[in-house]
Amino acid sequence: MATKKKTPKSARSSESSASEVERPQNLLEAAPAGDEESRLDASLRPTRFEEFVGQPKLVENLRVYVHAARARGGPLDHTLFFGPPGLGKTTLANILAAELGVTLHLAHGPAIEHKGQLAALLTKLGERDVLFIDEIHRLSSVVEENLYTAMEDFRIDVVHGDGPMANTLQIPIAPFTLVGATTRTGLLTGPLLSRFGIEARLDYYDPSDLARIVRRSAGILDVRIVEEACLEIARRARGTPRIANRLLRRARDFAEVLGDGKLDAKTARAALERLEVDELGLDEMNRRFLRAIIEFYGGGPVGIEALAATLSEPRDTLEDVIEPYLLQNGFLARTARGRMATERAFEHLGLKAKKKQGTLF
Ligand SMILES: Nc1ncnc2c1ncn2[C@@H]1O[C@H](COP(=O)(O)OP(=O)(O)O)[C@@H](O)[C@H]1O
Ligand SMILES: [Mg+2]
Repeated sequence: MATKKKTPKSARSSESSASEVERPQNLLEAAPAGDEESRLDASLRPTRFEEFVGQPKLVENLRVYVHAARARGGPLDHTLFFGPPGLGKTTLANILAAELGVTLHLAHGPAIEHKGQLAALLTKLGERDVLFIDEIHRLSSVVEENLYTAMEDFRIDVVHGDGPMANTLQIPIAPFTLVGATTRTGLLTGPLLSRFGIEARLDYYDPSDLARIVRRSAGILDVRIVEEACLEIARRARGTPRIANRLLRRARDFAEVLGDGKLDAKTARAALERLEVDELGLDEMNRRFLRAIIEFYGGGPVGIEALAATLSEPRDTLEDVIEPYLLQNGFLARTARGRMATERAFEHLGLKAKKKQGTLF
């Protein structure tokens, strides 16, 4: 089946970009910053619905679907989680498998290089198991097309022979649930998207939910923390649990080195200042992004490619990691002609809008 495939994303993994250069903003990017952090992610990961903080509507719906699937004795519908990094997509895939009482099989989209590897994954699945494919938008088109019959009819088609002698062998596989994760649904092809029965968008968390997450993580990590410090970290975590957990760990380091290990509000604030996270949660990379638009391009509009070149950052990082929060919080506007810094961005950075910006405000 010929499908229109979007230009493949550059072969960048979120982990690799974090290791390129040592700079403070690496502490604050939302993607896991390497193996150590991935392990910590896993240790702080809620394992059941009741431990998962926030996103109440989404969790409520998932509970219903899981309950119904269990009652039917069939697999849960294929489920797609989308949203910026660090909001809980991998966590929810784990929880779904646990709540369904089945095994979770993990795969990373770009690591499935050919259809043989996909077949190996699919034939290993037990009845109603969950196959989680992270970064599903980065599957190759051949692998993706082979996934269609697996998702729809629970079978793999293997063609052998050539020309008129060609034969298709159909191999049945266990009814299973595919759980996909991606940053934006727009990155998926129509045929793949249409095969998901459940699509769930993860939103940024509000500070009170993040404070609960910080408190919970502090309990697991055995950190003594006061309520005000939880809130201080929560307010500056840019709506993202992974960033909240990371800031907590760094703040704990400061508390151990500078004090008696107890994390009070003053220590938390001092730590966050040292990490260059400002009162609105913007880190150095966020500010560098906005400053580039303002200082090099007069506030915009400017195309994303030009910005990527100016900042020497991959376009993907800008679009998936940096921009969503700035857009949602009114620092950035997207217009047909490109990105523009908003009045809020100018004000926050203490910069003045030039005359020609008059059209924007
Ligand atoms: N709703 C939540 N409640 C508690 N912790 C969360 C929640 N969402 C995410 N986390 C924590 O944040 C970290 C990143 O979550 P993860 O599921 O890996 O994000 P994603 O896959 O969307 O990038 C994990 O350590 C996880 O424990
Ligand atoms: Mg993940």
